Amino acid sequence: MKIKAFIAGLLALAAMSATAGTPIYLDESQPIEKRIDDALSRMTLEEKVKILHAQSKFSSAGVPRLGIPEVWCTDGPHGIRPEVLWDEWDQAGWTNDSCIAYPALTCLAASWSKEVSGLYGKSIGEEARYRNKTVLLGPGVNIYRTPLNGRNFEYMGEDPYLSASMVVPYIKGVQQNGVAACVKHFALNNNEVNRHTTNVIVDDRTLYEIYLPAFKAAVTEAKAWTIMGAYNLYRDQHLCHNQYILNDILKNEWGFDGVVVSDWGGAHDTNQAITNGLDLEYGSWTNGLKLGKKNAYDSYFLADPYLELLHSGKVGTKELDDKARRVLRLIFRTSMNRNRPFGSLCSDEHYAAARRIGDEGIVLLKNNASVLPISLDKVKRILVVGENAIKMMTVGGGSSSLKVQREVLPLDGIKAMVAGRAEVKYVRGYVGDITGEYNGVTTGQDLNESRSAEQLIAEAVDEARKADCVVFVGGLNKSEHQDCEDSDRTGLELPYGQDAVIEALAKANPNLVVVNISGNAVAMPWANNVNAIVQAWYLGSEAGNSIADVLFGAVNPSGKLPFTFPTSLNNVGAHRLDAYPGIKRTDGSQYIDLEYKEGIYVGYRWAEKNKLKPQFAFGHGLSYTTFAYGKATADKKTIAQGETITVSVPVTNTGEREGMEVVQLYISDPKCSVDRPVKELKGFEKVSLKPGETKTVTFTIGTDALSYFDAQRHQWVAEPGQFVAHIAAASDDVRSSVKFELK
Ligand code: GLC
Repeated sequence: MKIKAFIAGLLALAAMSATAGTPIYLDESQPIEKRIDDALSRMTLEEKVKILHAQSKFSSAGVPRLGIPEVWCTDGPHGIRPEVLWDEWDQAGWTNDSCIAYPALTCLAASWSKEVSGLYGKSIGEEARYRNKTVLLGPGVNIYRTPLNGRNFEYMGEDPYLSASMVVPYIKGVQQNGVAACVKHFALNNNEVNRHTTNVIVDDRTLYEIYLPAFKAAVTEAKAWTIMGAYNLYRDQHLCHNQYILNDILKNEWGFDGVVVSDWGGAHDTNQAITNGLDLEYGSWTNGLKLGKKNAYDSYFLADPYLELLHSGKVGTKELDDKARRVLRLIFRTSMNRNRPFGSLCSDEHYAAARRIGDEGIVLLKNNASVLPISLDKVKRILVVGENAIKMMTVGGGSSSLKVQREVLPLDGIKAMVAGRAEVKYVRGYVGDITGEYNGVTTGQDLNESRSAEQLIAEAVDEARKADCVVFVGGLNKSEHQDCEDSDRTGLELPYGQDAVIEALAKANPNLVVVNISGNAVAMPWANNVNAIVQAWYLGSEAGNSIADVLFGAVNPSGKLPFTFPTSLNNVGAHRLDAYPGIKRTDGSQYIDLEYKEGIYVGYRWAEKNKLKPQFAFGHGLSYTTFAYGKATADKKTIAQGETITVSVPVTNTGEREGMEVVQLYISDPKCSVDRPVKELKGFEKVSLKPGETKTVTFTIGTDALSYFDAQRHQWVAEPGQFVAHIAAASDDVRSSVKFELK
C-alpha cells in the first residue's frame, strides 16, 4: 500500500513539476522555512499526526504522497548501532552493519580538546550518514552527580563548563554530514536506578548553574536539530512532556527550533504530550494488541488518541502544526537536503580518529620511579594480568552497545607494540563477567575459567616475580551494576576481588602499572603502593592500540580527569547528604522523590567546599614531560559589567619530549552575598609544546564567567567586588593567580 502511495506521490510530483514548475517545498533554491510552510499546507490532518510518532522500533513516517521521506534514528553516542528488526530490539542479521566503536564520551571529555571533539563528531556523523540515518541518538551530557550512575561512561563528566565546551564541536561535526544529533537525556537524568519513576527535586539555581549549561550550549551554540527527553520526572511531570523544561526553558528561553524526541517509552500521556512540548514519540509501551488495533503504533499517545481529540474538536491544531513543522524542519535539514555528503563507514581515517581520541583521552594518574613509559631497551619480559586485558567492551552496557568490525583488546595492542622486542605473557588474575551478549550481538569470546581466585592470584604473583614489568588491566565492565544502562553500581569499590590482586602484585614487583578501564571513579585503596596508574576509558575499536601507545611512550599522555576520584562515597555530596537514590512515595504511586540536597556542590565543588582531599582531582593528569607556568597577568585591574578581561600566562615545556598540556582557568568570587564554590572552571586551552618551548596562553572572559544564577530574579548576576582568576594544571594544582575588581 505504502509503495503505491509513494509511486502515486512521485507521479503526482512529476506531473506537477511538468506543469506548474517545481513546487516550493521541492525547490532547493527556496528558503527552508518557505519549503516547510508549503509542505505543511499540502498535508492532511492525518498526515500531520502520522509524522509525530514511530512506525517501527527506530523510524517514524514521512509523507509518501508528497515524496517526503521517513525519519530513521540510530543509537548511539559512540558508534552506529547494528540494524534491528522492524518492531524488535533483536538483530536484523545484516552483514554490512558493523561499525567502528569510538571511545566513550568520558574519554572525549578527558581529552579536553575541542579539536578532537570536532573530529569525533565528523567521523561518527559520516558513519551515520553512510548508514542513511536521519538522527544519531547522542551525545549524552548529563552531569556526573554520583560515581554510581550506570551511564556516566556515556557522558562528559562533573563540570558544566567542560561538558558545555566539549559537546558543541561534536554536534557540529555530526550535523555537517546532514545527520541530526540528538543531545540527551534532557534533563536531570543523573542515575539509572528507578529511572522511569524518579521525580527530581532541585532548586532553580542548581538547575541553571549545573544541570542545564551543557544542554543550553548544545541548543544555542551547536544548534542541535533534536533533543531527547529523559525518562525521569521533574515537578511531577515526565521530562518527555514537561512544561517547565521543554516549553518554558528549551523552546521559549532558548528558542529551540528543533524536535523534542521522547526517550523510548518516555511518553505517558496524550494531553501532556500535546501541550508540554513533545514533538516526536518513540518506543511507547502501549499495547496495540489489547486495544485491538491493526497496528500497535496507532495506539501511541500522539497517534489515534490525538486524532480523536482533534476530530472531536476537543483540541485545536496549533500544537499539531508546530510539532509537524518541527519534524518537517528536521527532514528538510537532513534527508531533503540533496547536498548532503555521502559519508563513509569503517574507513582508515575513522580508525585513526578513534585511536587519536583514545590517545588524547587516556589519563596518566601516577608515575613514580618513572615506571612509564615502559622502555623496551630495559624491559624484556612483560606480564599482563587481568580480565579487562582480554574482554571485549564494545558489546553490552545498554543502548550504546555495538557490533564492531574489529576491537583491538589491550593484550593485543601490547603484543603488537612490542612484537619481537620483548616477550609478553598473560595471566587472568581474576574472573569478572564471562558473558558477552546484547540484543543478539555476541562477542564470541570464551572467558570461562575454572580455577579459584586464590589459584589465579598465586599464578599472577609467581609470574610477576619473574617479569621485568607487570601491567594489570582491570576496572569495571559493561555488565549490570557496573557501567551499564538501567542499573547503577552499588559501591565505589572495584568488583571481583581486584584489590587483592593488585596488592599482591605490588608486593611481587615494584614495576607494576595499573590500567583502570572504567567510565566512573573507583576506590583505589592500593594507590599509595602502586608506582604507576593509568585511567583508560572504554576506548572502543582501537582500545589496545591507544593503551599501548601510552604505556610504551609512542604517545605522550595529555588527558585530564573530567570528574573527581573521591577516596570514598562519603566524600560525595549526594551520598554524604543521603540524597540518593531517593524516597519512595507512600501515596500508592510508584514515584520516588529524589532531592539534590547538595545543590551546586557537585564534584570538585563539594570536595573543595568541604576540604576533602580526593584520590585524584578533577582536571588532574600527568605527562611524560614537565611544564612550568609563569606568572598570570591580567590586562585590566578593574572591569565594568559587560566588559571583558584577558588573563595571560606563559607555559614552558621543561622536559625532554614534546607534550600537550591543558591549561585551566578557574574563577573565585571570595566575597559574595550568596554562597559560591571555592572556584569554578571557566576556561581551558590544550597547548602543544616542544622541549624548551614557551607559549603564552590567554583567556578572555566576560562578566558571564563571573556570574551566579539568582533564582528569585531568574537571571544571571555578576556581583561587583573582587574576583580571582586562577591558572591551574588541575583543580588541586593552581600555579598562579591574579586578582581583579568588577565595578
Ligand atoms: C534507551 C536509552 C536512550 C536510547 C533509546 C533508544 O532506553 O535511554 O539513550 O537512545 O532508548 O535505544
